[in-house]
Amino acid sequence: MKVVVILALTLAVVSAKTPMIKLNTGYEMPEIGLGTWQAKGDPVKQAVKDALEVGYRHIDTAYIYENEKEVGEGIHAQIGAGVLKREDLFITTKVWPNGSNQKKALEMIHHSLKQLNVTYLDLVLIHFPRDDYADTYKGMEDAFHQKLVRSIGISNFNRGHIDHLLKTAKVKPAVNQIRIHPTHNDADTVKYCQELGIAVTGYSPLGTGKMIKNPTLVAIGKKHNKSAAQVALRWQIENHWITIPKSVNKKYIKEDFEIFDFTLTKEEIKTIHDMKA
Ligand SMILES: *[C@@H]1O[C@H](CO)[C@@H](O)[C@H](O)[C@H]1NC(C)=O
Ligand SMILES: *[C@@H]1O[C@H](CO)[C@@H](O)[C@H](O)[C@H]1NC(C)=O
Ligand SMILES: *[C@@H]1O[C@H](CO)[C@@H](O)[C@H](O)[C@H]1NC(C)=O
Repeated sequence: MKVVVILALTLAVVSAKTPMIKLNTGYEMPEIGLGTWQAKGDPVKQAVKDALEVGYRHIDTAYIYENEKEVGEGIHAQIGAGVLKREDLFITTKVWPNGSNQKKALEMIHHSLKQLNVTYLDLVLIHFPRDDYADTYKGMEDAFHQKLVRSIGISNFNRGHIDHLLKTAKVKPAVNQIRIHPTHNDADTVKYCQELGIAVTGYSPLGTGKMIKNPTLVAIGKKHNKSAAQVALRWQIENHWITIPKSVNKKYIKEDFEIFDFTLTKEEIKTIHDMKA
């Protein structure tokens, strides 16, 4: 009994610690989520289970990742085990713009709901600004109005793509998910999104592994007793971006989450901003 109470308290404290970003739809999005690109089958199911146990409350997937079913199984396993409730969790998926249009986009969202075995999604993004993405977006607006999706947004969009979309969009995108890591920092797109009230999510925050041994990040990490990876992730948090590190290794899933007990100095943040590839 005592053990159960202590465990429950620990979990509550851990999840309460995750800071949230308020989206322009009024919903809150956890600043860190588990990325699942290139993870499939049992390993991704296990990674989702591990992440939820560690305290993550945000999972990022996509139609094209072909892992929504396993991601859903991992989520439902932990809901069944009493670790969390659906409403504690923020699920993002992405529509694949393959010759897509309004009707196809809505169909893809229904497919994702079924695969993930949920009645609503927290966020759906257009994966790439390809084909007639303004028409694809209309299907996402349909899903939004039907309350299948709480917030809708975009991914890999730059200023020009956003301007084109905004000519016809009726619901402002809530999020733009773009590649950001210390040596790949698209400051213009970030600035434009922030001016428009569009939250920014950084994917591949560790440069698909390249940042882990970066000497500048290692040196900053030493001062805080943190790894280079934790410094790279913390830098995104300091910038008020949402970050979605991907791993299927429980040790790294846990390490990536331990970034809320230290802060970077202004000088360190600037040093990281100025890093060159
Ligand atoms: C689907 O979700 C329901 C609860 O909403 C749950 O009872 C069921 O086990 C889930 N199915 C799978 C395959 O995870
Ligand atoms: C893209 O569309 C083509 C033609 O409809 C289809 O054959 C292909 O499977 C689609 N690819 C994806 C990844 O959806
Ligand atoms: C440094 O970090 C490690 C791993 O998180 C931890 O076990 C250790 O106690 C920390 N050392 C200090 C001096 O805080």
